[in-house]
Amino acid sequence: MKILVTGGLGFIGSHTVVELQNEGFEVVVIDNLSNSSEDVLKGIEAITGKKPLFEKLDLREKAAVQDFFKKHADVNGVIHFAASKAVGESVGNPLLYYENNINALVYILQELEKKENANFIFSSSCTVYGQAKTMPINEGSEVQPAMSPYGNTKQIGEEIITDVAKVSGINAILLRYFNPIGAHPSAEIGELPLGIPQNLVPFITQTGIGLRKELLVYGNDYPTPDGTCIRDYIHVVDLAKAHVVALQRLLNKKNQDKVETFNLGTGVGSSVLEVINAFEKVSGQKLAYRIVDRREGDVTLAYADTTKANDVLGWKTQSTLEQAMESAWKWEQKIRS
Ligand code: UD1
Repeated sequence: MKILVTGGLGFIGSHTVVELQNEGFEVVVIDNLSNSSEDVLKGIEAITGKKPLFEKLDLREKAAVQDFFKKHADVNGVIHFAASKAVGESVGNPLLYYENNINALVYILQELEKKENANFIFSSSCTVYGQAKTMPINEGSEVQPAMSPYGNTKQIGEEIITDVAKVSGINAILLRYFNPIGAHPSAEIGELPLGIPQNLVPFITQTGIGLRKELLVYGNDYPTPDGTCIRDYIHVVDLAKAHVVALQRLLNKKNQDKVETFNLGTGVGSSVLEVINAFEKVSGQKLAYRIVDRREGDVTLAYADTTKANDVLGWKTQSTLEQAMESAWKWEQKIRS
């Protein structure tokens, strides 16, 4: 079975390639290296003993996408990670986001539509729920108007896939991630944010290693027990495994609808201060941090109802927050050594 993983050298993509190879799939990776490095291939090989096929390609180039699918006509499934993901950047440069996240998706679907049947897994986000009215968030929770072009590309992407699946042989699973963190326990692959990290955990580990002076905690006056925002932080290896399970569901034709949606989280909400505490515990050091004003656009509370993923996919997370922080810290130490 040959699986295409777009964005396969990125954070979640690379961990998913590892899990696919561990399950015996042949993997071909497409990546334009805009936010990743070819060295990730070596990390994947160090873990699995096998280098995936790699095509350096920009999915915004329609002809290149067409050529790829001619060359790899035997692809049995596609897991589509390749996308831009910085919320702030998307506000400043919306067309970059619409081109990269939407055009690329359309070009891939145009090729899959030509096949009698095709299996497609889409990286979506809990951002589609905005500030949900009730917790935990299940898949039936209302999709709210997007707060950024990035969030909008995830919503539009889901809609495009749903429309196309209705009139084609495409079966799809939309995976709405909560907050992916951590790294492979081997520390051979992990997150490699370019520039100053926008996300909490890479900022914490970079502060811990001395690259950043202090973490700014965005607000402690939220209506939560300790006043800081609550999120559902999921270990990236657990998240990667969910992709393999979802893909197998499609390959084995076990899906009940042409498009199915699953929330992927732990079901446990953790506050910013709890994440800091977990870091301090696993690293044995104090973290320099300071409380500042709220960050615009942040929701107070978001954690997943995992019932559907648990019952229907038969998947659930295995790692704790501390294990995820431990792996993130091990990775940070390795890349700075
Ligand atoms: C963010 C995006 C979300 C996207 C996800 C992808 C926003 C508003 N949301 O999620 O759409 O799907 O990344 O990775 O950008 N925090 C600090 N100090 C920091 C960084 C973060 O206190 O330096 C806090 C935030 O206020 C938040 C929590 O840590 O409460 C998590 O932040 P982050 O890692 O950026 O994730 P989200 O905002 O949940």
